Amino acid sequence: MNTLETPVALKSFLAEQEQKTLLRFLTCGSVDDGKSTLIGRLLYDTKLIYEDQLAALENESRKWGTVGEDIDLALLVDGLEAEREQGITIDVAYRFFSTSRRKFIVADTPGHEQYTRNMATGASTADLAVVLVDARKGILTQTRRHTFIASLLGIRHIIVAINKIDLVNYDRTIFDQINEDFRAMSADMNFASITPIPLSARYGDNVTAPSPNMDWYNGPTLLGHLETVDFEDERLESPFRFPVQYVLRPDLNFRGFAGTLAAGTVKPGDPVVVAKSGKPSTVKRIVTMDGDLDMAVEGQAVTLVLEDEIEVSRGNMLVAPADRPEVADQFAANIVWFSEEPMLPGRQFILRTETDRATVSINDLRYRIDVNSFAHEAAKSLELNEVGYCHLSAQSPIAFDPYADNRATGAFILIDRLTNATVGAGMIVHALRRASNVHWQALDIGKKTKADQKGQTAAVLWFTGLSGSGKSTIANLLEKKLLVEGRHSTILDGDNVRHGLNRDLGFTDEDRVENIRRVGEVSKLMVDAGLITLVSFISPFRAERQLVSDMLEEGEFVEIFVDTPFEECAKRDPKGLYAKALKGEIKNFTGVDSPYEAPEHPDIHLQTSGKSPEELLEILENALRAKGIL
Ligand code: ADX
Repeated sequence: MNTLETPVALKSFLAEQEQKTLLRFLTCGSVDDGKSTLIGRLLYDTKLIYEDQLAALENESRKWGTVGEDIDLALLVDGLEAEREQGITIDVAYRFFSTSRRKFIVADTPGHEQYTRNMATGASTADLAVVLVDARKGILTQTRRHTFIASLLGIRHIIVAINKIDLVNYDRTIFDQINEDFRAMSADMNFASITPIPLSARYGDNVTAPSPNMDWYNGPTLLGHLETVDFEDERLESPFRFPVQYVLRPDLNFRGFAGTLAAGTVKPGDPVVVAKSGKPSTVKRIVTMDGDLDMAVEGQAVTLVLEDEIEVSRGNMLVAPADRPEVADQFAANIVWFSEEPMLPGRQFILRTETDRATVSINDLRYRIDVNSFAHEAAKSLELNEVGYCHLSAQSPIAFDPYADNRATGAFILIDRLTNATVGAGMIVHALRRASNVHWQALDIGKKTKADQKGQTAAVLWFTGLSGSGKSTIANLLEKKLLVEGRHSTILDGDNVRHGLNRDLGFTDEDRVENIRRVGEVSKLMVDAGLITLVSFISPFRAERQLVSDMLEEGEFVEIFVDTPFEECAKRDPKGLYAKALKGEIKNFTGVDSPYEAPEHPDIHLQTSGKSPEELLEILENALRAKGIL
């Protein structure tokens, strides 16, 4: 074959592919409703399996298959050994296929414990969800959950694939009943279309060809519907949104903003503004690898060159001047929680949108949504796979649209600051206006002046350690010393603060997070007053100690780990609390049934075993002198 010249047939094939629309969909449902088999069947029937893959499949089927001598189509989709051994799909698998009418990307999302994570991954760009239902079982808890998550993630079109219809003798009444149940269950979910299809993934009935076994059914086949469903709605009429991925500046004569259109269209000559600053300009050129364009549409990756030299940094957006996104640092969002560690309000995370990032804290969990009954419930935290409606505040404003208007600019993920794991996904509902009329009041006398007046360096000396480790004893000794030296100080002690400011808080993880957040804010105010602030709290979580450290300026936070082994604290037991906790009379006691996360790199590490308080004080003083605080 002549490899230099593209054959005419191939050229026209490629041109034809270009013209076709792309439908992204995902499959969901319970573990054994047959999702992988269904996708395998689609790929198989659309002849996209090559001969060698087929041969491998036959071998694999003999080794792993659960369908006797037949080819196990699920194996085509389930890529990983581990999955085969457990007989479930454990990660999102994307498949590409195409027919003469349309191109498809399908995400196969598994139905086991991590379903929110996997669905959110597969669904963020999906246009349609195929919800599999086992005809023998009808609507199950998983069906309700997955359908709800699909609606929450903004999927507008649903196919209810009523699978294994062969196992119920192709019974129409069963099909009708499931269809009715599904409609009742999803009545409030705002889907644009719900299409029920009776099928057998294993035998192929109504998958790509109409089934000869159900003359009562005259609706589309699965593939037929996927090929024709009208999903593009009013997409191109949405206002222009261009999140900036990078600023390109290869030489002095060229400055362009690279990114992918998240919504709308753009042409040279169009007026635009920078979302966060409101600075206006006009599009001069739309640059691509294949030359300049006259127009770009949603989904296209381009570089925009503007008429004016204006500041647009990565993460900002170029937008239509007449229809701008929200720019806010406080907003309400639905959050789906992916982490085994519960979501605790008050804790900080890194929020990432498609191109932007900010430190955020979840201020308030307004309610949790029960994914079975869809009821709103009061809750203090979110567990794995739970969904909650929250108020968040970011340290710097972000530009966004409500998720209902734009899935690309209204979504974010939350990242744990210590582990870097993605712990949740959020869909923004709206900006919160209440903080927008509160501004910083400039104060004439700064904290430096106040500390200078006292002849000292203000700082937070943060004592962390188990209950009974000696934090308060050492802090007290240090404060006496400071007094003698003429320093100005104050002590915030956990037991005392819990009698006043924090008397509404107990010892659950949620309450401890809030306890430390408040004390952090108070110690910051004390530093502003120029005081040496001694804080003696168990403060068992790394994340909150980090939070306080971040509230303060470089060098102002000194973490002092009062390191006394659990056994020793329990033996000392100054307040008799360990005895009670070990008998189970006190719940959530640190070191017993509530964790203590020891500092990994404390600024000062006091190993107390075998040392008197006076000796420890001396070590501490020397360390503080070395840091220039004393
Ligand atoms: S923290 O974990 O939220 O930082 P904090 O330092 O404010 O705790 O309060 C700890 C003090 O509360 C302990 O020294 C102890 O006297 C008392 N206490 C009562 N119940 C508990 C508990 N379940 N766990 C730890 N401390 C408790």
